[in-house]
Amino acid sequence: MFHATIEPCVRKRSKPASVTVNRHEVKFQEVRLYLVERKMGASRRGFLTQLARSKGFIVDDILSDDITHVVSEDSRASSLWEWLKGCGLKSLSKMQVLHISWFTDSMRAGRPAAVEDRHLIQDTLPASPESSILAPVAAISQYACQRRTSTDNKNKIFTDAFEVLAENYEFSEMKSSSVSFRRAASVLKSLSWAVKCMGATQGLPCLGEHTKTVMEEIIQSGHSFQVEKILSSERYQTLKLFTSVFGVGPKTAERWYRMGLRSFSDVLAEPDIQLNRMQQSGFLHYGDISRAVTKAEAQALGNIIDEAVHMITSDCIVALTGGFRRGKEIGHDVDYIVTTAEVGKEECVLLHVINCFKKQGIVLYCDYQPSTFHISKLPCQKYDAMDYFAKCFLILRLEASQVDGGLNCTEGDNRGWRAVRLDLVSPPMDRYAFALLGWTGSTQFDRDMRRFARMEKRMILDNHTLYDKTKREFLAASTEEDIFAHLGLEYIEPWQRNA
Ligand code: UTP
Ligand code: MN
Repeated sequence: MFHATIEPCVRKRSKPASVTVNRHEVKFQEVRLYLVERKMGASRRGFLTQLARSKGFIVDDILSDDITHVVSEDSRASSLWEWLKGCGLKSLSKMQVLHISWFTDSMRAGRPAAVEDRHLIQDTLPASPESSILAPVAAISQYACQRRTSTDNKNKIFTDAFEVLAENYEFSEMKSSSVSFRRAASVLKSLSWAVKCMGATQGLPCLGEHTKTVMEEIIQSGHSFQVEKILSSERYQTLKLFTSVFGVGPKTAERWYRMGLRSFSDVLAEPDIQLNRMQQSGFLHYGDISRAVTKAEAQALGNIIDEAVHMITSDCIVALTGGFRRGKEIGHDVDYIVTTAEVGKEECVLLHVINCFKKQGIVLYCDYQPSTFHISKLPCQKYDAMDYFAKCFLILRLEASQVDGGLNCTEGDNRGWRAVRLDLVSPPMDRYAFALLGWTGSTQFDRDMRRFARMEKRMILDNHTLYDKTKREFLAASTEEDIFAHLGLEYIEPWQRNA
């Protein structure tokens, strides 16, 4: 039912081309025109259509792959080409895209004029998947690790909707439906162009019936009714609110919801609820840690870690990972790897760093988890499981004076500091590349790289190692490039992993 308003963009050939159109005799079977309405206007378009038909030309009202000549009055090539490329045509590369002057020349001559350079509206857009038109989007892999995805998401209107649906399925513990929507979102994020009509989704992987219905709704009306319904539901709003607290996962949120609790004050006033230490800190610092962390703040934390580490050794690595390494401007927390060249000493370094923080009086919360790493546990088959490295989940006090350009604060806040979430992980140096890859993410990128390894290469990849099941051996890697190479994948830079 949504097709009526979407289809004008592209329609597959439905009926064989009729020989007469509007009772005019067709003289030029091999030429099929489409007049672009933009700039031309509907009434002039109607007039020119009748004129051409009266002279024996075929003029279609709908742009399809059967069209041979596209005629436009709009000479701004980039907007015309952007629109054409969003139409999902397979044979765009074979079409002549022409200025109205070709049309008037043809009408004057009473036959299709020879196409000259001055008639052409040249494609000035940078190459995009649609410009390799013969196989328009077939080249897009179902695996995020074979796509390049920057932070510049051209399809946010769809991916935001998919993420609400995915989250809602997660709240209902429907993992596979949730993953389907995350995969679909991830595919759309990798496109260098915005989807403007359903035709443009032909050949894109991972878009199922349900995702397409949602996209159709959005293309037609600007929003999805299903998504609006979820967003306005009490259950979704409450679970979203509760899980925004550090230490509260979907299960706890659901339990509280079932107890009839709907707000933070409900939770805090409920005598039957015993908050754990993590949740207590979550509520205590809620205002600060639910506010985005900026790149400058992440950098400031890096300086603080650097200082602490260099007090004991110069042979160490402090590496920013997580979303900031992927080029994101803001994050929900900051992730750093801290390790040292000497295998086995990394845990000491981490403990030392934590101690330094404590001495400075900046630790607001600290959950240290010692290493449970042992080679005999590998390869780890549970590919979504946590890793075994020593790590520490922290909330730190960050002073405004330490941050270039100051803190990300709410207006009127003059404390001069804020609380920030920091995760530190300490893999042994020989595991560094795997840990860096895993902690850089995105989660969806990692998930697909593991799936690719398993399904396509009979290998098991996780945050610790890469295991070849055919050769029955572990494959060593000292850089991320090594890991991609073992898997036969082209290297994808961190800022291209925003799947
Ligand atoms: P984050 O949850 O911090 O995500 O985990 P992010 O991409 O940095 O996004 P924001 O900006 O903070 O919201 C970073 C990566 O670390 C991995 C996650 O899977 C993710 O890819 N990770 C996290 C682990 O591998 N192990 C952990 O114990 C925690
Ligand atoms: Mn992060």
